[in-house]
Order: sequence, then C-alpha cells, then structure tokens
Amino acid sequence: MQQSKTKILFVCLGNICRSPLAETIMSDLIEKKNLTDKYEIDSAGILDYHEGEKADYRMRCHASFRGYDITHLSRPVQKSDFDKFDLIFGMDEQNIRDLQSIAQTDEQRQKIRRLIDYCDTFGRPTIPDPYYGGDDGFRLVIDMLEVACKNLLQELESK
Ligand code: 4NP
Repeated sequence: MQQSKTKILFVCLGNICRSPLAETIMSDLIEKKNLTDKYEIDSAGILDYHEGEKADYRMRCHASFRGYDITHLSRPVQKSDFDKFDLIFGMDEQNIRDLQSIAQTDEQRQKIRRLIDYCDTFGRPTIPDPYYGGDDGFRLVIDMLEVACKNLLQELESK
C-alpha cells in the first residue's frame, strides 16, 4: 500500500531568500537519500509582494556556488496550506507570529515549528533575514539551513 507523504512547508517573509533555499536544500537531501516517495516539500512567504518572482539574485548566486539550483517562484502562504501540510516551519519569531495569526484552528497552529530549533549549533535565536545585508548574511543562511535540514530529515527518518 502506498503510504501518504509527509508534507513540509518552509516559510519566511518574502519567499525569495531563506525559505526557497530551505526547500531546495531539503529536496536535494531527500533526493540523494532516495526518499522522494516519502516527502513533499514547498515554500511560501508571509508577503505577496514578490509573488511569481524567482528567488533573490544574490541568494541564487550564493546557493549556486554551494551546488544548489533554486527554481521556486515566490508565492504567499494560503489558509489552505494549513490543511495540506503536516509541518510548517518559520524562520524567525515574526514569521511564527504571522503564521499563528493566519492559522484558523488549534490543529493548524500545532503544525507550526521553528526551524532554528534544528540548528542550535550556531547559537543564534533566529535564522536571520539576509535581504538587507551583505554576502556574509547569505553565506550564514546557507550554513544554518544545511544543518537544520540535515537534522530535520534525520529526526523524521528516526521516527
Ligand atoms: P526572505 O527575505 O524573507 O528570506 O525571503 C526577504 C525578502 C524580501 C523582503 C524581506 C525579506 N522584502 O521586504 O521585500
């Protein structure tokens, strides 16, 4: 019998830097481990400001240097995402607050998680928004999201 996929949504503010990168890194890991029949991965933004756009050029360049091809087009979070997805990861506390205000029921709110909880090795309170900063911020986000996605997949696979 075909088992249903675990559906994971990564969310940041604009869906052009952090969350499309998290989606790409997680999808790459899943593909490398031949687990594509077990997971469905997507990303979305709190804002609809960048809807339909590719990821930020700087994010795509830094990601490409590390071997990742971000193809996602930005889209805003929808109320229906809270029914479709099993786990919804925010990057920072404002994302978490925004997600909590979009969720309609306790069951939907229970799907919201902090991705920072999977990469505590960096000792930061949040996965920082690189949008208004320089190259170091983009590199840091890649480092953090690589650790977070690896730990997340390890935890899911150990269940
Ligand atoms: P992201 O970065 O949330 O990691 O995609 C941002 C992208 C765009 C904006 C802010 C953050 N913005 O204000 O347009």
